[in-house]
Amino acid sequence: MSAPRFADRFAGKVLVVTGAAQGIGRTVAIRAAEEGGRVVFVDRADFIAEVAAEARDAETAAFNADLETYEGAAAAMRFAEERFGGIDILINNVGGAIRMRPYAEFEPSQIDAEIRRSLMPTLYCCHAVLPHLFARGGGTIVNVSSNATRGIHRVPYSAAKGGVNAITQSLAMELAERNIRVVATAPGGTEAPPRRIPRNAVGDTADEKGWMADVVRQVKETSFLKRYGTIEEQAAPILFLASDEASYITGSVLPVAGGDTG
Ligand SMILES: NC(=O)c1ccc[n+]([C@@H]2O[C@H](COP(=O)([O-])OP(=O)(O)OC[C@H]3O[C@@H](n4cnc5c(N)ncnc54)[C@H](O)[C@@H]3O)[C@@H](O)[C@H]2O)c1
Repeated sequence: MSAPRFADRFAGKVLVVTGAAQGIGRTVAIRAAEEGGRVVFVDRADFIAEVAAEARDAETAAFNADLETYEGAAAAMRFAEERFGGIDILINNVGGAIRMRPYAEFEPSQIDAEIRRSLMPTLYCCHAVLPHLFARGGGTIVNVSSNATRGIHRVPYSAAKGGVNAITQSLAMELAERNIRVVATAPGGTEAPPRRIPRNAVGDTADEKGWMADVVRQVKETSFLKRYGTIEEQAAPILFLASDEASYITGSVLPVAGGDTG
């Protein structure tokens, strides 16, 4: 099924999309560029420039940064400003559960790693982008959260995404008077092609594969539609919320999970 195109929703806008090398972020960044946006693809993957070049008839740029550091987040925003003269829309997509384990099985260092991956990039980027949005007189931030705020075997990730929801609501209240909307989607389980960059660089143990199977079962059971979504089904609402079509929506976290609400 090919995705419907909404010509020019992002004409005249500069977007920064984080975690754009693969998965949901890649599709969002390419579609935003093909809908007229000038898009900075940010990722720590070294092949990010190749992905940015995939967008057809589009103006894109690529920037390598580790967004688990504040300096990486600030450098990405400075790059967008220098390259395209400002920022209108930030899409905070970096994140993803590294390990599936019952909470009692997590080692302390593994708890920290989940928070660094799925909370800190959004917290840092939301801060680092503000001077750029203020200079523009307004803008939009879309955070990619998760319905895993209610789910088994990934409690540290659930906590990180609960934090993303809190950032969304509180920052939206604070920034409404600055003409800045802050919104989020909460994706459910999403089918993806095999990942070029694995979530867990050291691979899953046999136990973790079993716990992952439990998660897949739980996610399908708690969704009304009893299936995973597609990357296109996740990209579409992110792009809608990022666009001016969503001008009266702020502070909301939209579940995109076949009926599950997270
Ligand atoms: N895929 C799902 O089933 C699902 C479900 C719910 C929520 N989500 C959320 O959607 C978002 C995207 O998920 P996905 O499955 O498409 O992701 P993915 O794991 O396939 O890709 C993540 C991208 O982020 C990049 N990245 C990771 N850490 C980074 C860092 N520190 N600095 C810079 N780049 C970094 C990776 O290199 C990769 O390109 C995540 O926030 C995830 O939590 C995904």
